[in-house]
Amino acid sequence: MSPQPPAQREGFTAVHGYRFYWKSVGDPGPKGTIVLLHGGPGGTHDYLLAFSDLADHGYRVIYYDQLGCGRSELARDVSEYSIDRDVEDLEALRRELQLDRFHLIGSSYGGLLAIAYALAHPEPIRTLVSASGLVDVPLASREMERLKRELPAPLPDILERHEARGEYQHPEYLDAVMQFYRRHLCRLPVWPAEVTYTLDHLSVPKYGTMNGPNEFTITGTIRDYDATPRLGEIRIPTLVTTGRYDEVTPAVAESIHRGIRGSTLVRFEESSHTAFWEERPRYMQTVLDFLERHP
Ligand code: ALA
Repeated sequence: MSPQPPAQREGFTAVHGYRFYWKSVGDPGPKGTIVLLHGGPGGTHDYLLAFSDLADHGYRVIYYDQLGCGRSELARDVSEYSIDRDVEDLEALRRELQLDRFHLIGSSYGGLLAIAYALAHPEPIRTLVSASGLVDVPLASREMERLKRELPAPLPDILERHEARGEYQHPEYLDAVMQFYRRHLCRLPVWPAEVTYTLDHLSVPKYGTMNGPNEFTITGTIRDYDATPRLGEIRIPTLVTTGRYDEVTPAVAESIHRGIRGSTLVRFEESSHTAFWEERPRYMQTVLDFLERHP
């Protein structure tokens, strides 16, 4: 007889007057609950679904789509899209779902959000994982600029030419963007359907407001955000992961690791921004080992 797959549930919960979509994989048990925060800002939870592997090891894994994202409702006004709002939405959702204590894993912008949440509401967090997360957005942007310049010719010129004219939707520009993504977002020759789904369903109003026209052009409202000076306040066991070829570069991960006392830094040598797909077994084992060290 094959083992039963972990139980799955999904639903909608009202958060600050909006319908939020969530999905839970696995049963709550002694190992506890893991909450996943997606990136973007403006992505969806789908590209994180590899983390359901952790449900096979006794954890309950909870995903949700942030305000204006995926299957959750759009905000009535783009001025509602902000880091502070995402923090308070998570806190409200936590109360609605009656999560007293949980492990928090944030990917990319979700890592930034996880740290912002930890600074505002440290009590419920058992452990923290920054999965290719960022905290100093100007540093991340400078590093992305460097990666752009280091692309093989003629890609840097193509990017620069169209950016100078504001042609972010030009087919030649979009093709060059995809070449950047294939090196620095996901290096698998065939992308998981979950990753493609999220990229195809980016929230135009939220991504456009908070992030910018693409991953390496962060001109939105988060562009000047930097919580590095406050990292010393975090007293939660923390794992920081990065990929050797990550668009949020290892230098960004190192700055987070330096700031959070006692944190562990792990670099995935065959990966870029989605190591949880690119080196999935090793990634999940790394997270499991970390969680087991902090029961
Ligand atoms: N745009 C980056 C992300 O994926 C920061 O969240």
